[in-house]
Amino acid sequence: MERIFYVTTPIYYPNAVPHIGTAYTTIAADVLTRFRRICGEEAYFLTGTDEHAQKVQEAAKGEGVSAREYVDRIVLAFKEVWRGLSIEYDDFIRTTENRHIKVAQSVFQTLLERGKIYKGYYEGWYCVPCESFWLESQLTATPDGKKLCPNGECGRPVGWVKDEEYFFKLSEYQEPLLAYYKAHQDFVRPRSRFNEVVSFVERGLQDICVSRKGMKWGIQVPGDPEFVIYVWIDALTNYITAAGYLSDEKRMRSLWPASLHLVGKDILRFHAVIWPAMLMALGLDLPEKVFANGWLVIGGEKISKSRGVKRNLVELIEEYGSDPLRYFLLREGSFGQDFEFSEEALIRRLNTDLADDLGNLVHRTLSMLERYRNGKVEKPSSLFQDADEGVIGEVNALPGSLRREMDELAFHEALQEIWKVVVSLNRYVEITQPWNLNKEKKEERLSQVMYVLCEGLAALAVLLYPFIPVSAQNIWEQLGLQGQVREQRLDRIQWGAHAEFQCKKGTPLFPKKEAASLEG
Ligand code: MSP
Repeated sequence: MERIFYVTTPIYYPNAVPHIGTAYTTIAADVLTRFRRICGEEAYFLTGTDEHAQKVQEAAKGEGVSAREYVDRIVLAFKEVWRGLSIEYDDFIRTTENRHIKVAQSVFQTLLERGKIYKGYYEGWYCVPCESFWLESQLTATPDGKKLCPNGECGRPVGWVKDEEYFFKLSEYQEPLLAYYKAHQDFVRPRSRFNEVVSFVERGLQDICVSRKGMKWGIQVPGDPEFVIYVWIDALTNYITAAGYLSDEKRMRSLWPASLHLVGKDILRFHAVIWPAMLMALGLDLPEKVFANGWLVIGGEKISKSRGVKRNLVELIEEYGSDPLRYFLLREGSFGQDFEFSEEALIRRLNTDLADDLGNLVHRTLSMLERYRNGKVEKPSSLFQDADEGVIGEVNALPGSLRREMDELAFHEALQEIWKVVVSLNRYVEITQPWNLNKEKKEERLSQVMYVLCEGLAALAVLLYPFIPVSAQNIWEQLGLQGQVREQRLDRIQWGAHAEFQCKKGTPLFPKKEAASLEG
């Protein structure tokens, strides 16, 4: 059975519509999936919503609707925003779906039967927004004695909970986890996060509470209707539900273990400690890699529902377009690190990289070709000149270097590599001066130059497709090439592959934005 590149995003709490911060990981997953496909691999992309959170129930109450009604509405908003950002997931899982409830309950039951989950007493602090239990020693205290959630991005008051609850024997997994990390040094990325996880586990693990008593909104503990399954345990199992666990063995064999869980750095422990321990307890393989991405911040603070950008995500998409947003998010920061979001920076990238460099290259090439040759250039029979070799070599080397950068999820470096070629091709226009070749009637050389430029653009369209799919298809069509850019393959990017180009110039790809638009 052929293994499939299976990539997941976190499943998002549908307590509000998605914001640019939540879009970040989802865009990255989409880019990776598209990239694997043009590498000729099969890929599968899962995203979804984590619906049984208490804060979802509270948001519904705030609006005076049932939790079910509320999540149904927000899920539609999620799907619409993802469509607006050209996110093409293969599956959108909702934890309220029957297929998932069955799996979550069965996982709980199996762990109970194996003695990995037991009933005991829980007394302690709980943070509703984070859906997390905390030790007294972990809490932050205010001068007036209020106890606050220690999660850096939260800091909200915690509440005391005291009940009979179910526990997962996480403490049994310290040694197995450490052994696993040792044998799989790539399990968590970036490396600094891997080290953090290892030292966290080295400090010792305690059993964790995996139920909530007396709650209605959640998946019932099998055979004990007084309890629902703790939302994080419910949520983590989504990755195997969608892979066909207990429902489709064949699918499970091809999808599991997941190739990559993309997660924000704040939820890394759930994915790199608790989830692997659960999988070990279930006798399932562990995911190949967990990558913790940084946050989008403003003034150093994480963007969230409550601390946000001036414009919401829908407005940002309308104002700048999906491709520029995708490009900006993956080009501006390094994926493992936090980075500052600002519309000024976005406009700068749009006006320089996209409009001045790429857009201009496409536009000037096709304008010259239309003016000099009615848009048509055939593959020249004579040899290229020295000036051409440099740029041809750069284009040919690009798929290989891109593959390496993308395997490391170094999106910004992959884009930098591509842009070096964009810049080189613009320089090539300056050096070869096609307008003079035309004036001086150097027909053969003009053909060579125009063909080099068109071949360069065709390669760029394929290489850019994962990042800016709409514009890449547009370039492909302007070059008059058949089929869809998404059907192309990286290893078929070959100099001289096209017998001719019959181009039809379109409108400029990336109209520039005035910084003044920020005042609107
Ligand atoms: N429901 C859980 C995840 C369960 S996965 C089995 C959850 N949901 S969340 O909606 O609160 O957050 C989902 C993801 O969005 C997290 O990975 C979080 O890091 C990410 N982000 C939220 N705000 C973000 C930024 N400002 N920047 C980058 N990522 C952001 O946690």
